Amino acid sequence: MKKSACCLAFAILSLPALAGNYAVPKNAAFEEECASCHMAFPPQMLHADSWRAMMGNLSRHFGSDASLDEKRRTAIADFLVVNANGRKTGNTRDTAGKPLLRITETERFVRKHREISAATWQRASIKSPANCVACHRQAAAGNYDEHAIQIPK
Ligand code: HEC
Ligand code: HEC
Repeated sequence: MKKSACCLAFAILSLPALAGNYAVPKNAAFEEECASCHMAFPPQMLHADSWRAMMGNLSRHFGSDASLDEKRRTAIADFLVVNANGRKTGNTRDTAGKPLLRITETERFVRKHREISAATWQRASIKSPANCVACHRQAAAGNYDEHAIQIPK
């Protein structure tokens, strides 16, 4: 009993040491509604006001209609807001102070990916910077560690 409690505490304490770990907390509604057109993006990668803005306008979601009934919408919005604001999220507002809706437009994302050329982003095997899993092969499990990256040709 004592031993397992100690090891559990150790496992929790050592999580932040894994730089690229953004495991998505379990949530059935989020998985059902927000991972059908694309992968489930980690809530930790945007601040709460960005998620609120996105969840307030789902009928016009990046050219798609992702609208939900009000109960599901508020449940998912609450889940995102509670799990937002990761330790390394960085600034998620634009220069005018408006919340950004794209993780891929945040200052931290741009900085981490500045060595990737426009031509690479446009490869047929990648298509969009939002296609995380094209390069981060274990992104679905929240693993963005540099050792798990493989840029496709
Ligand atoms: C009907 C399809 C569809 C559904 C359902 C959907 N999305 Fe999207 N989403 C898109 C498309 C299309 C894009 C733009 C992808 C691109 O630029 O490559 C997008 C982009 C995003 C982005 C920005 C990615 C970036 O560039 O950083 C986030 C965050 C996001 N969606 C979250 C959500 C959440 C949260 C839900 C659930 C409430 C959801 N999506 C449901 C179609 C959908
Ligand atoms: C074209 C391939 C490619 C795509 C697509 C891509 N990335 Fe990356 N990502 C990289 C590379 C390369 C690095 C830099 C690794 C390094 O130098 O440490 C990186 C770094 C990162 C890091 C930093 C990892 C760390 O250890 O701190 C995060 C977080 C990350 N990416 C998240 C994302 C997310 C989220 C998406 C999708 C919205 C995405 N990436 C899309 C290639 C890609």
